[in-house]
Amino acid sequence: MVPISSPTTNKAYRFSIAPMMDCTDRHFRVLMRQISKRALLYTEMIVSKALHYSDRRNKLLDFDPTEHPISLQIGGDDPKLLTEATLLAEEWGYDEINLNIGCPSQKVQSGNFGACLMANPDQVARCIEAMCSKTKLPVTVKHRIGIDNLDSEDLLIAFVDRLAAAGAQRFSIHARKAWLKGLDPKQNRTIPPLQYERVEHVKKIRPNLKIELNGGLNTPFACLNALKIFDGAMVGRAAYAHPLRWKNIDEIIFKEKTNDIKASEIIRKIIPYTEEHLHKNGKLWDMCKHILNLVEEVPGAKAWRRDLGLKAQTEKYNLEILVKAAQQLEDAGL
Ligand SMILES: Cc1cc2nc3c(=O)[nH]c(=O)nc-3n(C[C@H](O)[C@H](O)[C@H](O)COP(=O)(O)O)c2cc1C
Repeated sequence: MVPISSPTTNKAYRFSIAPMMDCTDRHFRVLMRQISKRALLYTEMIVSKALHYSDRRNKLLDFDPTEHPISLQIGGDDPKLLTEATLLAEEWGYDEINLNIGCPSQKVQSGNFGACLMANPDQVARCIEAMCSKTKLPVTVKHRIGIDNLDSEDLLIAFVDRLAAAGAQRFSIHARKAWLKGLDPKQNRTIPPLQYERVEHVKKIRPNLKIELNGGLNTPFACLNALKIFDGAMVGRAAYAHPLRWKNIDEIIFKEKTNDIKASEIIRKIIPYTEEHLHKNGKLWDMCKHILNLVEEVPGAKAWRRDLGLKAQTEKYNLEILVKAAQQLEDAGL
């Protein structure tokens, strides 16, 4: 087991982009990498069973070298399958592997993984132990502050203690509980109130554990503020919906000089990547659906988005559409 204070767990990952199904695919991650060189980027959750049976592992696991540092998020409850996924993460060159103990969807619950496993810390610990025994990669966990009525401060501390003893090296805590029945995943991201004080309590009682705060961090300065207490700040929806809002994040958090990057420059930078994607029979829309969010709150934004959206979905393999869209922005000084 790697000691908590090893170089792999230092403060390098002070900012991350959260795992989000149907959002943080490799194309969005490549886009986000133009905005922050330092953010730790998480994949969408990949289910360990799906990975085991899949004949398209490359499709599930491949990523672009520019995406480093990158964490593979896995869902599952079977130590054997999770160990296999860990070995694949290592083989593919991921920088860490993260276990999802936060997803409350019915589908995930019926597979007995995600948030429902917060009720079974011993099972999660067995998974973490198995994963750690086969890899040098950091094994980290993303979870909630509790589920249903299992949401006391003591249970949360007991949960992280058990997983830390099993080898978990960082805890990304979504500062909301999840209701496993009655709320869908979207409601479970809005209805249970944010309780940062619960996560703060964990950090206060266990100062040696690496704790990353997640949930409702909507601006770079909110993240900077969180870092006064926590080891990391993780941003989900606000990064996806407003990527350019984070353009100074490396300067704000890592004190690294950044140029004032514009939407048009970001698009130009990802044109070669998109071209390669098209050569592999990928579609223009795969990248463009993420690009749309680069342009907001400026005159003509809606029209630009509508135009690009329409064209990218009809002329599926025509890179010129993207080139022209970037030019339009550049002409507008954006
Ligand atoms: C569309 C969407 C998909 C998500 N998928 C995942 C996922 O695959 N794994 C996970 O751990 N969390 C997932 N989440 C939860 C986010 O990682 C994050 O915990 C949550 O959105 C709260 O952070 P935020 O307020 O910064 O968005 C998802 C969230 C959204 C909005």
